[in-house]
Amino acid sequence: MHSRILALLAFWGVGVSSSLAAPDSKIIEEGKALYNSAGSCVACHMEDGKGQPGSIPPLAGSDWLKGSADRTIAITLRGLAGPIKVNGKRYYSAMPPQLLFDDAKIAAIVSYVNHAWGNEERMVTAKEVAKARAELPEAVYTPESLLKAFPFEKEYRRRNGTFEPSFDDLLTTVTEPIVYRTFMPGASPAAFAVALPGNQYFCWDAGECRLRYAWTKGGFIRGNQVHWSSNGKPVAEFNGVPYYRAKSSLLKPEDYDVLAATNRKEPFYDTTEASDFPFQIEGVSEAPRYRGYRLLDGYPEFRVSLGDYEIRESIRATSVGLGIVRSFSLSPPAELAMRLTISDLADVSTSKGALSDDGVLRVTKSDSTDFQVTIIEKNPATPVTP
Ligand code: HEC
Repeated sequence: MHSRILALLAFWGVGVSSSLAAPDSKIIEEGKALYNSAGSCVACHMEDGKGQPGSIPPLAGSDWLKGSADRTIAITLRGLAGPIKVNGKRYYSAMPPQLLFDDAKIAAIVSYVNHAWGNEERMVTAKEVAKARAELPEAVYTPESLLKAFPFEKEYRRRNGTFEPSFDDLLTTVTEPIVYRTFMPGASPAAFAVALPGNQYFCWDAGECRLRYAWTKGGFIRGNQVHWSSNGKPVAEFNGVPYYRAKSSLLKPEDYDVLAATNRKEPFYDTTEASDFPFQIEGVSEAPRYRGYRLLDGYPEFRVSLGDYEIRESIRATSVGLGIVRSFSLSPPAELAMRLTISDLADVSTSKGALSDDGVLRVTKSDSTDFQVTIIEKNPATPVTP
């Protein structure tokens, strides 16, 4: 065991003293603050390190951390995408590379993770992170490539590692909501792909705080969803034909026409800030912020703040499965305007408020706490009854 540690340290070219040093509480405190800062690990792995059931694996007690801080550095710098098992539970998900932080900050965060919530791993130095950043392959890791470079010790191998997708590669009949956090074409790298009973699918973009597109034709993303583009960036295999596409600051409607054809060669991320956020509340100039989601009966409810206001959105299939119903609630209530996208492909209607010809929905203060927008495909595929 001891010689293994020494060999590992020699590999990274660091002094034994620096890495086996006693935990430095100042650095760990700094790492804690960085872990919990906006846009950091906390957004997904949560403050308690427990992750989010079914979509984000835990860092608290995770076997993936054990015995190899180098593996944790690699995941943090390059990201990880593909089916994995963590502490015996399965996740189909993807983690983007964490690009917000310099070497010293990553070192502090990993040192914190390694000592938080009962974890007992070692401190990490900025020098190690710098070396990893310079030398690790550029591409986002797959579970296979990661474990090849940083294998588990025997005792963890049985519980963890990767697994083969256990359901049909292309889901034919969706009977319960399926929520993936993954890399979707035409969204920022923090996207959700959701399949609803009735085989309605949508992409909701946490980076831009909005629904991006909805589709049913062409099927959901593949079970073994992550594919690799020529420049090494992952993106879900997507063959859908969206019938609803939200307007955004960068993408034009015609851009979506190339989504299905091109995404495996060039990932088609849109990482613009939401400068034209679809919701407007008078007197609010702050940018929208993604506040997380929770599952209600398995359906995600997304939370976004806009200044002092909070918008919640949850999406279900229409009862006959021809489209989607988006339910919104604003708190505290206020008069609001919401921009919807009118196109030839879908009928858009609302339960409350007035919808103008160019797609602006105006909702009164009292109606703002609970209103629905229904989007129905005009030339629907045959509905599938769950
Ligand atoms: C956008 C969401 C997101 C953010 C932000 C994020 N992660 Fe992850 N992380 C994930 C997901 C999803 C996985 C599982 C990837 C998979 O299924 O292949 C994961 C996996 C991991 C793993 C390996 C599995 C485990 O549970 O131990 C580690 C370690 C990890 N993340 C550390 C971090 C650290 C440290 C940060 C912050 C610097 C961070 N992550 C930020 C989503 C995120």
